[in-house]
Amino acid sequence: MVELNTVIFDVLYLLAAILFIMGIKKMGHPRTAVTGNLLGVVGMLLAAGVSFLITLENESIQNSLTLPIGTIVGAIFIGTLFGTVLATRVQMTEMPQLVAVFNGVGGLASVLVAAASLMATKDSSIPVEVVVAGGVSGLIGAVTFVGSGVAAGKLQELNFFKKQLPIPTLIRHVLNLAMLIGCGWCVFEMIDTGNVLLYLVICVLGCALGYTLTTPIGGADMPVVIALLNSYSGLAAAATGFVVDQPVLIISGSLVGASGIILTSLMCKAMNRSLLSVLFGGGMTSSYEQDEGIYATVKRTTAEDVAMMVDFAERVVFVPGYGMAVAQAQNAVSDLAAMIEQRGATVEYAIHPVAGRMPGHMNVLLAEADVSYEQLRTLEEINPDFDEVDIAIVLGANDVVNPEARKEGTPVSGMPILNVDEARQVVVIKRSLSPGYAKIANPLFAADNTSMLFGDGKAAIQDISAALKEL
Ligand code: TAP
Repeated sequence: MVELNTVIFDVLYLLAAILFIMGIKKMGHPRTAVTGNLLGVVGMLLAAGVSFLITLENESIQNSLTLPIGTIVGAIFIGTLFGTVLATRVQMTEMPQLVAVFNGVGGLASVLVAAASLMATKDSSIPVEVVVAGGVSGLIGAVTFVGSGVAAGKLQELNFFKKQLPIPTLIRHVLNLAMLIGCGWCVFEMIDTGNVLLYLVICVLGCALGYTLTTPIGGADMPVVIALLNSYSGLAAAATGFVVDQPVLIISGSLVGASGIILTSLMCKAMNRSLLSVLFGGGMTSSYEQDEGIYATVKRTTAEDVAMMVDFAERVVFVPGYGMAVAQAQNAVSDLAAMIEQRGATVEYAIHPVAGRMPGHMNVLLAEADVSYEQLRTLEEINPDFDEVDIAIVLGANDVVNPEARKEGTPVSGMPILNVDEARQVVVIKRSLSPGYAKIANPLFAADNTSMLFGDGKAAIQDISAALKEL
């Protein structure tokens, strides 16, 4: 007879799975995203709580000397402490790196859980599907762990992660293929001989693959890779779910995997890239060189002059980028926008899909400053209209407005940009002429219709507001 506890636990797991599905659905719109996130948190708490209770009921664990219950409680305590400290202390601008680290740690957890399960099996005849799922979990989990670490390092702009691999591209591809074949061979051997120690070889090869696949990728291709690693962490968890026979892990992992793949495909579309060209094309543009006199005709402006331009304008478009996140200028922008609207002009925000450092970065910041969703324009919506815009105020954006993307052979080639250069007047607010994430100069800054307002984004916007009040 089925025990009552088992039925209750299964129902609670089912409830957790339903909460995950509802949560991810609600995350599809900024208005309902916070509720979606909360539903996901409650679902995860429920799933983890039920797993803990099941563990408590397990007699072999209760009597185990090697894994006393205190170890599990200790691990939960350490995890909770680290998660809380990281999530509360990390600056908003470092959030993308934190998300990459969380992805990586998720991959590592899948690797370790699958390892523990495979190694604990005394019986040499492990079902074939469990061995295959274990191999997949070890490979994808290890790729995710190291790949996400490299991605976090690149987002943090650490010099070590900017280095290219000292191997020609073709040899790198052959090496990657050899490592992949090596993993496949290990799985066959594990099925054939029952030697689960080969799982460790898969993990080592997976770590090496994570490094060689992610290191050459940079510039405009990073958003695609980050979305892909996100989906890998889900796929690794789903595979681990098969190893430990845990449906809720399979469901939650599949949800993360599938939504990550959808995000990857959206990112590829937004960047005008094919997934294969991102994965296998890293380092192609290293010979790219720019004209050194590109900034010879740059014009400076002042906050007072910008206030006067704005005062005469009928249509103003703010173009936010990563610099707005660094300066935390979103509230100052929304205050200035309200003043401009009071004077009778329309204000819109042009949002590039990869502006900032994580998907939806600008939307999140502007929502925090209570900017209405109706004022946000996607790239497709605003681009045909830029020639009717009186002033485009580019705030800390660089690569996403760089006309070099329209040329062949540059690190941003092919990436659709916001056509701000077509606006009647362009004001670019940033601290210097330094390049953006793709590390290339931007001819927009020296265009006839562009003036540069140098300074910190928030201070510059506040100065414009102050000058506008005086008019
Ligand atoms: P970027 O091209 O990175 O340019 C940001 C600009 O902000 C910099 O040129 C910097 O110039 C300026 N800035 C920094 N701090 C500032 C401050 N306090 N006040 C004013 N300006 C400041 O940003 P973007 O145009 O948003 O493009 C995003 C880039 O990141 C793309 O290349 C994209 O591929 C990449 N990326 C995106 C993602 C996702 S998913 N969104 C993920 C990884 C990588 P100064 O130093 O001169 O001020």
